[in-house]
Amino acid sequence: MSKTSSIVILDGARRTPRADILIDNKEAGLFSRFTTTQLGGMAIKATLASTKIDKALVGHVVMGMAQHSHRDSIYAAKGMAWRGGLGQDVPALTVARICGSGAEAVAVGAEMILAGVRHDQERPYVVVGGAESMQYPFTLYEMRGKKIGEAVQKYGPIDTKTLPAGTHLQDMLLMSLYDPSAKMAMANTAEELGRRYQITRDQADAFGLRSHVNAKKARDAGWFAEEISPVTVETGTTSFEVKHDTHILEDASLAKMSRLPPAFEAGGIITAGNASAVVDGGAAMVIAKEDDVAKHGGKPLARIAGMGVAACAPEIMGWGPVPATKKALASAGIDGKQIDHVELNEAFAPQALACIRDFEKLGIDPERVNPMGNAIALGHPLGATGAVLTLTCAYALRRTKKRYGLVTMCIGGGQGISLVIESI
Ligand SMILES: CC(C)(COP(=O)(O)OP(=O)(O)OC[C@H]1O[C@@H](n2cnc3c(N)ncnc32)[C@H](O)[C@@H]1OP(=O)(O)O)[C@@H](O)C(=O)NCCC(=O)NCCS
Repeated sequence: MSKTSSIVILDGARRTPRADILIDNKEAGLFSRFTTTQLGGMAIKATLASTKIDKALVGHVVMGMAQHSHRDSIYAAKGMAWRGGLGQDVPALTVARICGSGAEAVAVGAEMILAGVRHDQERPYVVVGGAESMQYPFTLYEMRGKKIGEAVQKYGPIDTKTLPAGTHLQDMLLMSLYDPSAKMAMANTAEELGRRYQITRDQADAFGLRSHVNAKKARDAGWFAEEISPVTVETGTTSFEVKHDTHILEDASLAKMSRLPPAFEAGGIITAGNASAVVDGGAAMVIAKEDDVAKHGGKPLARIAGMGVAACAPEIMGWGPVPATKKALASAGIDGKQIDHVELNEAFAPQALACIRDFEKLGIDPERVNPMGNAIALGHPLGATGAVLTLTCAYALRRTKKRYGLVTMCIGGGQGISLVIESI
């Protein structure tokens, strides 16, 4: 038994589909009307309904979110909790470890239970997960102290037509993907990793294609259906249901992918075809001590066998999963050869390929990495990703009757986070 393996994830964990932020570069994405808090709330509601636990026994909510993209983002986890149907007496913590926030929420929830100090013994279930709306969070710069009309703007909405000269709006998502410590954007750190590992454009494209092919196969076989809770979108005049992840290509081919221009630097190998898609989504799970589940109900799905977090230089942030995985394997007391299924976030193909090469040195079989596709085909909703990958991994282990799964992702600024889960 590892230190964490008394903590189990319950069957019934659910996620929303992952929806592109734009449709064909023409229309707003299917989830553009939802905030991060609403997406997280939907995931919690679906999870509570599927786990069938007594909601009154949820003692805490821990949810990941990377960026404050809407006016309700400040309330994040608490807003997700009440939207998810939990009472106003349930405390909620928002955690942020950028792209690892969803996995961090699982880790923090488990640590809270294990530490027992702030854990509510009377209400032993903890809801964990993450959500992210990647919709354009614009921020107004150079506004402080400037006049609008007769007064200096203090509170309230600002009419963009009356913005004073010298002010400008910036898309916070795009701008925040540039890391000042690395002096480059996330994608350029992955280009750097590609250079260090001598990864070619052909290899990056082949990996991008593999992601789409595997994701399509998984969707068509109905493997995602057990984890997805469809989302109803009301437009005012009509309503429709979103049941699937929207970025998977039906006809991906190497020929088409190889024609795409580099997206981030001249001569670079990253394109729209081998980078993670920008999508909205949310996911949630219920975790608890196994003996509390035996007492109060719920069906254990997987154990949290180990976890690890590590840091590295920001200019190779994409390599973070490697040292984090070494720690997680050590904490689970297993070696890489015992890992049956890996969910490695594909921030960018060269980044994932560099990690896979080093995973091989740990004994992890490259063929076991992302057999259902990953972020290139399915998208990377920053704060949700770690939670999405955890529940995908747990269901995949059960379906394939395998034992150990690894969930891992890189984190901008130079970190990685990994969880080892064990199917029950
Ligand atoms: C790479 C990136 C800039 C591409 O964004 P984009 O230009 O809006 O991408 P699109 O989906 O519009 O694709 C561009 C074109 O490539 C095409 N395309 C995309 N994937 C393709 C594929 N696999 N095969 C063939 N064509 C493809 C699209 O159809 C589109 O064609 P069009 O211009 O004729 O409409 C964006 O996905 C990105 O920034 N990803 C990384 C996000 C990130 O940094 N996350 C944090 C990680 S740490």
